[in-house]
Amino acid sequence: MRLDGKIAFVTGAGSGIGRGSARALAGAGAMVVVSDRNGAAAGLVAAEITGSGQRAEAMALDMTDTAAIRAAIHEVITRHGRIDVLHSHAGIQIEGRLDQVSPDQMDASWVMNVRSHFVAAQAVITQMQAQKSGSIIITASNSGVQYDAGMIAYAVTKHAAVAMVKQMAKDFAKDGIRVNALCPGFIDTPFNAGFERQMGGRAGLEAYISTAIPAGRFGTVEEVAAAVLYLASDQSRFVTGLALVADGGNVSDRALKTSLSGTGFLLRLLSAFRFGSRDGGRIAVRLVFSCHAARHRGSRTMVLAVIVRISASAPVRCRVREPVQCRRRSWFGPGALRSVCAA
Ligand code: NAI
Repeated sequence: MRLDGKIAFVTGAGSGIGRGSARALAGAGAMVVVSDRNGAAAGLVAAEITGSGQRAEAMALDMTDTAAIRAAIHEVITRHGRIDVLHSHAGIQIEGRLDQVSPDQMDASWVMNVRSHFVAAQAVITQMQAQKSGSIIITASNSGVQYDAGMIAYAVTKHAAVAMVKQMAKDFAKDGIRVNALCPGFIDTPFNAGFERQMGGRAGLEAYISTAIPAGRFGTVEEVAAAVLYLASDQSRFVTGLALVADGGNVSDRALKTSLSGTGFLLRLLSAFRFGSRDGGRIAVRLVFSCHAARHRGSRTMVLAVIVRISASAPVRCRVREPVQCRRRSWFGPGALRSVCAA
């Protein structure tokens, strides 16, 4: 995937995923503007890139400053005559539930996680329309396509970022401009420092990740940068409006567990009856119970799935898909499982 001759602009590029993105884009041949609120950090990343023979410029840019964003992007377009890739990456995470987050904190989340991307995209759009090409990549999060307990400001604003991406993608597809959202899961960067403290240190955080994430580990900056490179390059030229989730299976795992509860249970039960009765008169009953403890980072989510099949020829079979680990007493706890098996 080559980006030779392209001009790319990355925000929040002094550290973590933004730094990885800048390095990957430059490695593919683009001239990268490495911008960050921390101008010194941006300078170090740009120096790393130029030190390895690639092209980069550093820029101090605070993404809460609308006038500064407009001026910075205008200056880059004027100097280079074009802009091909905008990776608007800088964001903020404020934890808490409705009763814990102040209106000012909600506003701050909106300013960084939605408004800053809006302003940056607006600053490049006229030039990209004139070029009839461009790739805008906005960093959301896998919290932009699922929900986390106690994360109202983060989840709401990241969902809004994904919604904004889809709207922009629709509005500018005919201009040859693609807009996609990058939705990482846990990536090993300083961004997770607060959560690490909550988990009692690095060991606690790693223990959590090893059980909560299907891949059993953090993602790396390089793995996410590869996704950015794909979205930036012509290899994804027919891809727009996508929320590209790179999270070691976290979102799909949760969706699977959700489908095993509530409405999903009823639908599965009904379909089991339908298909069972068509199948030579056999009655197949599939019972799926789910047991959720508090869904919060740091506590396990417990799902109990029991499948019971009844047919004229076969004995009752019972299979437990996942270990039963109910903290709270409930009618579908371990005792209930035994009685189902014995039925
Ligand atoms: P990081 O902490 O390694 O780097 C963030 C960079 O953004 C820093 O260099 C910082 O100086 C800069 N920055 C902060 N405020 C800024 C502002 N107002 N203007 C310009 N630059 C600013 O963090 P990382 O891992 O790169 O994550 C940042 C983004 O990635 C956020 O949007 C976050 O929501 C998203 N993300 C990160 C995940 C992770 O596990 N690391 C997971 C999901 C999403």
